[in-house]
Amino acid sequence: MTTSKLTKKTYLIIGGIGGIGRAMVEQIISNKDNKVFATYYRNVPDIEADNLHWLPMDVSSEESIKQAIDEIKKHSDHIDWVVNCVGLLHTEQSQPEKALRQIETDFFMQNMQVNALAGLLIAKHVKLLLAKSERSNAHPAIFATISARVGSISDNQIGGWYSYRMSKAALNMGMKNLSIEWGRSLKEVCIVVMQPGTVNTQLSAPFQSNVADGHLFSPAYSAECLLEVLSGMSADQTGSFVDWAGESIPW
Ligand SMILES: NC(=O)c1ccc[n+]([C@@H]2O[C@H](COP(=O)([O-])OP(=O)(O)OC[C@H]3O[C@@H](n4cnc5c(N)ncnc54)[C@H](OP(=O)(O)O)[C@@H]3O)[C@@H](O)[C@H]2O)c1
Repeated sequence: MTTSKLTKKTYLIIGGIGGIGRAMVEQIISNKDNKVFATYYRNVPDIEADNLHWLPMDVSSEESIKQAIDEIKKHSDHIDWVVNCVGLLHTEQSQPEKALRQIETDFFMQNMQVNALAGLLIAKHVKLLLAKSERSNAHPAIFATISARVGSISDNQIGGWYSYRMSKAALNMGMKNLSIEWGRSLKEVCIVVMQPGTVNTQLSAPFQSNVADGHLFSPAYSAECLLEVLSGMSADQTGSFVDWAGESIPW
């Protein structure tokens, strides 16, 4: 791509050490004119660059989100793009449900907290930094979250994965709502939820056996496609749910 399009901006990549998030960080820092803040959770970051600043952030804690963003404010008066690459599908203890009898409250609530609520809390705390981005309709500030096609209610053909599907559907509604609110109070910010494709990361690893040949993306390819789609977004497109190729996904 296109990394040439990702120039002279200040980025916040949340979940910058996950599969897709890490690939995004690597691609964006390769342009030295960019400034990148990236967050990590359990794994200690192993990428270093002069234009990269790591911060710890547990998105299930509002205090942790606030602390990381307060730290950014000491180094930058604005953020141009926020991309939230955090997500939860399974844990060491729990797998996504195949049937109703497998629903467990703790796992359900963990999905809702990490996949759905976190996006709103990040938006709440990062709003003032986005407000100071120099932006226009053609070149808006970006607030993007990686969602999932399985969060589409109308696209649901096979069921299962209650906690993940419901949390991504809730994320989508939260971001749609936010696009309406910020369409009034913080114009020229484009809010997007995205399907990254089926990507070869630890999140999808247990579920890759049914993926057709050639349909499992590398994290680098997915990140490149997602960044390309975002770089073409105008503020008018706020409230979009799109895939890695920029195609709209029904809610
Ligand atoms: N891979 C796919 O095929 C696929 C398909 C559709 C949608 N997605 C979505 O794409 C996004 C990126 O996923 P990925 O495939 O790159 O998976 P990944 O490699 O597992 O990355 C997910 C990241 O989320 C972080 N995370 C989990 N809980 C967190 C918390 N409480 N606070 C902060 N960070 C936390 C993980 O950190 P730790 O590793 O330290 O726990 C990890 O870095 C997710 O939203 C996922 O739902 C992926």
